[in-house]
Amino acid sequence: MSSITVLLVFAFLLLRGFDVCLSQGQLKVGFYSQTCPNAESIVKSVVAKATADDSSTPSVLLRLQFHDCFVQGCDGSILVDNERAAVEHNGVGGFDQIKTAKELIEAQCPGVVSCADIVAMAARDAVALAGGPAFEVETGRRDGKIAMASLAAAIPDVKDSIGTLKSKFKGSGLSEKELVVLTGGGHTIGTTACFFVVDRLYNFTGRNISDPSINPKFLPVLRRTCPKNGDASVRLQLDPITGNSFDDQVFKNIKKGFSVLASDARLLDDVSTKKAVDFYRGEDDGSFARDFAAAMVKMGRIGVKNSSQGEIRRACNAVNK
Ligand code: HEM
Ligand SMILES: *[C@@H]1O[C@H](CO)[C@@H](O)[C@H](O)[C@H]1NC(C)=O
Ligand SMILES: *[C@@H]1O[C@H](CO)[C@@H](O)[C@H](O)[C@H]1NC(C)=O
Ligand SMILES: *[C@@H]1O[C@H](CO)[C@@H](O)[C@H](O)[C@H]1NC(C)=O
Repeated sequence: MSSITVLLVFAFLLLRGFDVCLSQGQLKVGFYSQTCPNAESIVKSVVAKATADDSSTPSVLLRLQFHDCFVQGCDGSILVDNERAAVEHNGVGGFDQIKTAKELIEAQCPGVVSCADIVAMAARDAVALAGGPAFEVETGRRDGKIAMASLAAAIPDVKDSIGTLKSKFKGSGLSEKELVVLTGGGHTIGTTACFFVVDRLYNFTGRNISDPSINPKFLPVLRRTCPKNGDASVRLQLDPITGNSFDDQVFKNIKKGFSVLASDARLLDDVSTKKAVDFYRGEDDGSFARDFAAAMVKMGRIGVKNSSQGEIRRACNAVNK
């Protein structure tokens, strides 16, 4: 072997090794830069337009990716009609925006861009539009060929104990600190239906009491918005203080008993998650935004399927025939 060949082989191995470090399997930033160069800008403009029409769009699209990734990985299975109907996905939206983006992309590059990637790109654009951190999203996901409502049990529930929340995140490869930063980032914007709140106001753990962790000043406020036999579809801000800005106020709320969701309040029930709440509520160096962006990238790698396990769906709401 000539020395130039040795050098080339060495350079190749180095690049390969480098590539493996930077990405998960086939995931990489700019996966479609050759095969569908407009994919990212199409998604971005669909998200921007939908947000201009309806300011709740960013939070809806962010929650959609969370629910996608926690059921069998980020594989677009939540978009398929039968999984979408699962009770665990109650209130999840954004399906129309994903469909619109997919159709525009298919018109330019048919059969190239996965629905799972469109979900991930849309969530990234949503976070930036909501005033959260701008970050690059890896692409190259494949769409799952299996979607079943029963698999949605992996989704964290508002009534879960901190132990259950931790183990559900751990099952997806996410630490206690990532549980806190992702939940804080998700719940610093957006809203919830009273449906998810009433039990902790009137019948916490089935005992006809309110959740003792609710600040006594906040309990009447919540009860006024969500009366006992009132309209369960009335919505309230998840961050009652600064619900329209992406900031660390959400952690201050949790600390003071101003959590709207019981699962947010439970983040104080464990030494490691409480430590993370304290860390982010006191931060003044941008670590919340930075760590949230990094955790979003990590969440986007959950259970990514390779070319034999997954497909590029033609329409996002059904696996290919
Ligand atoms: C600890 C586990 C979590 C639980 C139990 C939980 C539960 C919920 C519930 C019950 C709602 C209200 C849904 C509705 O009424 O439409 C909600 C909203 C939301 N969640 Fe979470 N969540 C969790 C973690 C996360 C994570 C990790 C993210 C994203 C990174 C996220 C993002 C959101 C967003 C953006 C909304 C607002 C949706 C909207 O405005 O329509 N959540 N969550
Ligand atoms: C309170 O919760 C318990 C247990 O979940 C349930 O059996 C009961 O029907 C609830 N009561 C009301 C008034 O909703
Ligand atoms: C539940 O608590 C409310 C208010 O404290 C009380 O009026 C009601 O009788 C209680 N219901 C039951 C079944 O104990
Ligand atoms: C995809 O992953 C599965 C399971 O890890 C493996 O058996 C299969 O060989 C992989 N296929 C490709 C094309 O990498």
